[in-house]
Amino acid sequence: MSSGTKQHPGVILVTGGGGYVGSHTVVELLNANYAVVAIDNLSNCQVSNGKPESLNRVEKLTGKKVVFYEVDIRNKDELDRIFKMHKISNVIHFAALKSVGESTQIPLSYYENNVGGSNNLFQVMHDNGVKSLVYSSSATVYGIPLALPLTETHPTGQGCTNPYGKTKYFVEEIGKDLCSAYPDWKVVSLRYFNPVGAHPSGIIGEDPSGIPNNLMPYISQVAIGRRDFLRVFGSDYDTKDGTGVRDYIHITDLAIGHLKALEKISSPSFKGFQAFNLGTGRGYSVLEVLKAFEKASGRKVAYKLVDRRPGDIATCYSDANLAKTELNWVAEKDIDEMCRDTWNWQNNNPNGFS
Ligand SMILES: NC(=O)c1ccc[n+]([C@@H]2O[C@H](COP(=O)([O-])OP(=O)(O)OC[C@H]3O[C@@H](n4cnc5c(N)ncnc54)[C@H](O)[C@@H]3O)[C@@H](O)[C@H]2O)c1
Repeated sequence: MSSGTKQHPGVILVTGGGGYVGSHTVVELLNANYAVVAIDNLSNCQVSNGKPESLNRVEKLTGKKVVFYEVDIRNKDELDRIFKMHKISNVIHFAALKSVGESTQIPLSYYENNVGGSNNLFQVMHDNGVKSLVYSSSATVYGIPLALPLTETHPTGQGCTNPYGKTKYFVEEIGKDLCSAYPDWKVVSLRYFNPVGAHPSGIIGEDPSGIPNNLMPYISQVAIGRRDFLRVFGSDYDTKDGTGVRDYIHITDLAIGHLKALEKISSPSFKGFQAFNLGTGRGYSVLEVLKAFEKASGRKVAYKLVDRRPGDIATCYSDANLAKTELNWVAEKDIDEMCRDTWNWQNNNPNGFS
């Protein structure tokens, strides 16, 4: 993105701006001369100087100040104060709890935070006349694929097997209902496949607390010596090498997808609710990712083949053509770049942001 263009009108409110996807998107927004206000309740961030460390680093990376407030989206008064202080034109809504496993153990917290918090946010947006939303959704809304690749017309909600996935689906439904009730509301829901990688600078990246739930951070922690080996769940799937196949997308491509969504939603012809897949359209098996990571890092990644996990599926990948034609967006980075940038981040920051 060029930094020579003039400032866009209005302010973009980024909820969950201290998180993995949020912080990478803030970089791209600032580089493209958007005015940004980030909020976060710091529940999943390393903090220094009262701010997510990720955003301190975004400031270094971009040479620009990040306006940040510690705000919980479940608190309407705090949210309202932000809307009264800034001329917000659009909201990009990332703030959520995101662990599938944890959501099966504490479902009420997930519904309260993700669904209740989003409902609050939308109410405050509505009260303040801000009716343009880019929402962080997930391929989990499709549940078990009835056909591949997954297109945006695939049914959603029916096969969601865990509370986390259901919260993503319910919030999409709230967005649809808002657009039906109020013709001036606009919602773009971005259904991410598997975001991985880090900013190519190695200054910001994914920093999971505790044991990583996702494949790529787990592999990189094995490569750096923080974990002994990777457990590969299932090696008898009907895939090229028997391990599960997923559509991985580089975090920078994903972040740029949000800027494309902002352009789309800001065009006068855009109306109502629209969902877009953000993926590459091709799948890689667990063992292919592992081999690509070994190549990128020059390290051996020990692994053990173990039983399948209940609820896992063999293969999942996107049809990303709608985003290409409607948003003028395609994922440009391949698996080698995803692994290279993950390793660069991990190697420069063996303990993440701490
Ligand atoms: N990372 C993925 O693999 C993935 C895949 C699909 C969808 N998503 C969605 O993308 C969004 C961002 O995910 P991420 O990977 O960056 O997660 P993350 O945990 O790194 O970021 C989420 C941020 O939201 C904040 N937050 C949580 N609850 C909040 C609340 N009530 N009020 C204010 N802030 C709150 C957390 O402190 C955190 O900084 C989430 O909505 C997630 O569901 C992520």
